[in-house]
Amino acid sequence: MTVSAPHHSAVQCVSIALDQRSYDIHIGPGLLSSPDSWHGLPKAACALIVSNELVAPLYLQSLQAQLGAHYARVEFVQLPDGEQHKDWASLNLIFDHLLARAADRKTVLFALGGGVIGDMTGFAAAIYMRGVPFVQVPTTLLAQVDSSVGGKTAINHPLGKNMIGAFYQPERVIADLDTLDTLPQRELAAGLAEVIKYGPIADGDFLTWIEVNLDALLARDKSALAYAVKRCCEIKAWVVGQDEREQGLRAILNFGHTFGHAIETGMGYGQWLHGEAVGCGMVMAADLSVRKGLMPAAFLPRLRELIERAGLPVRAPRLGAERYLELMRVDKKAEGGEIRFVLIEALGRAGMHGAPDALVAEVLAAHCE
Ligand code: NAD
Ligand code: GLY
Repeated sequence: MTVSAPHHSAVQCVSIALDQRSYDIHIGPGLLSSPDSWHGLPKAACALIVSNELVAPLYLQSLQAQLGAHYARVEFVQLPDGEQHKDWASLNLIFDHLLARAADRKTVLFALGGGVIGDMTGFAAAIYMRGVPFVQVPTTLLAQVDSSVGGKTAINHPLGKNMIGAFYQPERVIADLDTLDTLPQRELAAGLAEVIKYGPIADGDFLTWIEVNLDALLARDKSALAYAVKRCCEIKAWVVGQDEREQGLRAILNFGHTFGHAIETGMGYGQWLHGEAVGCGMVMAADLSVRKGLMPAAFLPRLRELIERAGLPVRAPRLGAERYLELMRVDKKAEGGEIRFVLIEALGRAGMHGAPDALVAEVLAAHCE
């Protein structure tokens, strides 16, 4: 199977269908500096770009130049970089800036960065003056294939990942593939974890496509990246269009996340990248799927090999089974203290399942360092 994408210079569009909250995801190279990306957004006197000290020097000027044609004032606030700063203190920097400049309720926020900036800007937009419009401009692979799409916004709490947040949809997503050129290789690999996720949960053929095209993705081949980002966004659009607020189906997007969030929280935010924790979490969730008799044994080595080839860790940190179980009981999918896992039921199909603590402990013992 080869890349079946159009030439990589083409701009592709995926729509999220949510009635009056519908919007488009634009995917392609050069979008940041293309005037077409910024037409037709809500009118306002003021736009506020939210970014950080790593991304702003790379892409802020381009965005400012484009937005200057649409807004009388283009403001900028810089947040500290990193998952450990996805908290109230950083969120307040956005509100401090908005209020100090008397930004009104039409002000449009622009999230320029990875998932951390996107989640925080989205949450700020959801609650500033009870809601202002915002636009996602994702600059990591992870943000382009997952976090900028679907309206989940949040900050972390010391006791749990993404525990304080809101569902709040952006006006548009502009995924400029050229921004991936400057991404460190470790961050590219972290994004590939979320790309891989979409195969087992929704599209077995896509899993095969990733296996065949992984080297091209790792080498940042633009055609391969364009196809991967588009296919992931299509799958996410299909899921979110049916279950925006995660009453059921949307939980499948959390494959690997129950173990993964426990790693992130247990190690301290920022130690393991989100994508690294999800990759390793998928190995454990695949094993649990096999141990529960849902999947044939061969599924585990197949998925583990792909995750390893992507450059991601497949051995989990040794936190102790009790600590893992304690952390996983704080997961948003837990019900009445019972941990719920997204498990694979067939290639391309996932569902929610409980598991006895003893079985989970066996999985942890098999995969912890
Ligand atoms: P991140 O936002 O921390 O970005 C990774 C690193 O890359 C940061 O240091 C960032 O400054 C830097 N960076 C960003 N773009 C760059 C570029 N183009 N060139 C060079 N450096 C660049 O992490 P992430 O992996 O993008 O996102 C992870 C976050 O997303 C987590 O907090 C996770 O919980 C969240 N998330 C949310 C959803 C959702 O649906 N809302 C889904 C998945 C993940
Ligand atoms: N990344 C999980 C979700 O959007 O639901």
